[in-house]
Amino acid sequence: MNNVTSSTDFGALGVPADLVAILADRGITTPSPIQAATLPDSLRGRDVLGRGRTGSGKTYAFLLPLVARLAGGRRAAAKSPRALIVAPTRELVGQIEQALAPLAASAGLTTQTVFGGVGQGPQVNGLRRGTDIVLACPGRLEDLIQQGHCSLGSVQVTVLDEADHMADLGFLPAVKRLLDATPRGSQRMLFSATLDNAIDVLVKRYLSDPAVHEADSAQSPVSTMDHHVLHLGGRDQRLPVLIDLASAPGRTVVFTRTKHGAKALARQLNKSGVPAVDLHGNLSQGARTRNMDAFHSGKASTLVATDIAARGIHVDDVALVVHADPPTEHKAYLHRSGRTARAGAAGTVVTLMTDEQVRDVRALTRAAGIKPQTTKVDGAGHPLLADLAPGDRVLVPGGYVGEQPAGNQGGGNGGQGGGNGGGRRSGGGGRRRSGGGGQGGASAQAGQGGRGGRGAQGGRSQGQSAGSGSGGGGTGNGGGRNRRRGSGAGAAAGSGSNRNHSAASFSGRR
Ligand SMILES: Nc1ncnc2c1ncn2[C@@H]1O[C@H](COP(=O)(O)OP(=O)(O)OP(=O)(O)O)[C@@H](O)[C@H]1O
Ligand SMILES: [Mg+2]
Repeated sequence: MNNVTSSTDFGALGVPADLVAILADRGITTPSPIQAATLPDSLRGRDVLGRGRTGSGKTYAFLLPLVARLAGGRRAAAKSPRALIVAPTRELVGQIEQALAPLAASAGLTTQTVFGGVGQGPQVNGLRRGTDIVLACPGRLEDLIQQGHCSLGSVQVTVLDEADHMADLGFLPAVKRLLDATPRGSQRMLFSATLDNAIDVLVKRYLSDPAVHEADSAQSPVSTMDHHVLHLGGRDQRLPVLIDLASAPGRTVVFTRTKHGAKALARQLNKSGVPAVDLHGNLSQGARTRNMDAFHSGKASTLVATDIAARGIHVDDVALVVHADPPTEHKAYLHRSGRTARAGAAGTVVTLMTDEQVRDVRALTRAAGIKPQTTKVDGAGHPLLADLAPGDRVLVPGGYVGEQPAGNQGGGNGGQGGGNGGGRRSGGGGRRRSGGGGQGGASAQAGQGGRGGRGAQGGRSQGQSAGSGSGGGGTGNGGGRNRRRGSGAGAAAGSGSNRNHSAASFSGRR
């Protein structure tokens, strides 16, 4: 096991200059610990087992060697990709492809995603044309292989992202079959923020003399992440507390246990004036894509999701993760929570807990190596909520307009939203972007514009005030919170964009 702190640059680790330049364009100049630890081995072609915290840059840790090793080689033959990346969800596959695209383009490599829920025609065509790198969820790839559209016999590099999850019972048989179809002796890399015994079976069978790198200890959580448990007086307080937290500036990800729970909660939040989208396995792929786009663009400030969004998904500037239902096990807690405080930014994690859940929550935070601050909260007015999610509450009549039929916005929902929060803490209607009587579309736009603007400032992670200046209570809370955060990630992040994470933001934290 190696514990390497990054102190060098990508070129010195052996990353080709053109790839280094692409990273530099994105403000990425100093390797994170997991990158510094694994790249020398992975670039040489060794099998790698790598663990690094959530948000610590594992994606580039496997993409860089994969592209570097394929570059300059022979073009892929029809239906015979030269590299394979396997990940558990369609969203993650798509996200990895986005990170890969500029690197692959500079090396003249082609890519093809393969996952279910969409027509297979374009995927089959891509494979037939000859694709260098296939990024896939296991199920559809197996389908296409069985139909004769793809063979893994020419694969030189295989990556399992979220490797421990891919070794879970549901995935393991398919993952084994896929790995069995790749050539013996080809390079294999397994990455996750949590590597436990579950992956032993894959390690023993498929990795040869692997370089094992744990860039941090399993029991050392992301240091810029604040953990809180809110002990609710009753289950009826769950929604008002969520509305309060989620109507603060910035992006929020809320996790529920069930698909139905995610859908219902997103609907309730929208009805109450919090622009929200849901993400779970009951949605069509089109709806999943639309909803994630709305969350990325800021049109919806809250994502309500099942554990489908727990692994690997990166959205810039998620300030707050709320476990509306506590997860069932500690790994899920770590991965869900890891949607915030990524790449050196600060973030807050809140678990809502009822009396019946006290024992479970204690067990899972202990297993996760987290010491949360637990506070009894008797409703939405509790002052801690303004500290956890600082800034003015903004409610948008009708919530996320993309989900609302035309004409179903405005007065009625606005009235409900007002009653639920904005007025309560603002000390006046002036701060709320849209009163109950506003015309639906216009109101919604104004509200979303406000949120977007504040998000873009990166106020929460860079020590700027999130408050808009009106409403003394909100501004005071915002300033206080941000001062606290500013001393950590704000100082590290330095420049204007949250994407430009400096080296200090990674290495300075440990
Ligand atoms: N060396 C670096 N310096 C600064 N930012 C980086 C660096 N490497 C990656 N990043 C950025 O950090 C963010 C998180 O990276 P990534 O998604 O790869 O994390 P991860 O370790 O895979 O997390 P998870 O365990 O949640 O999947 C991305 O926005 C990425 O562009
Ligand atoms: Mg990842």
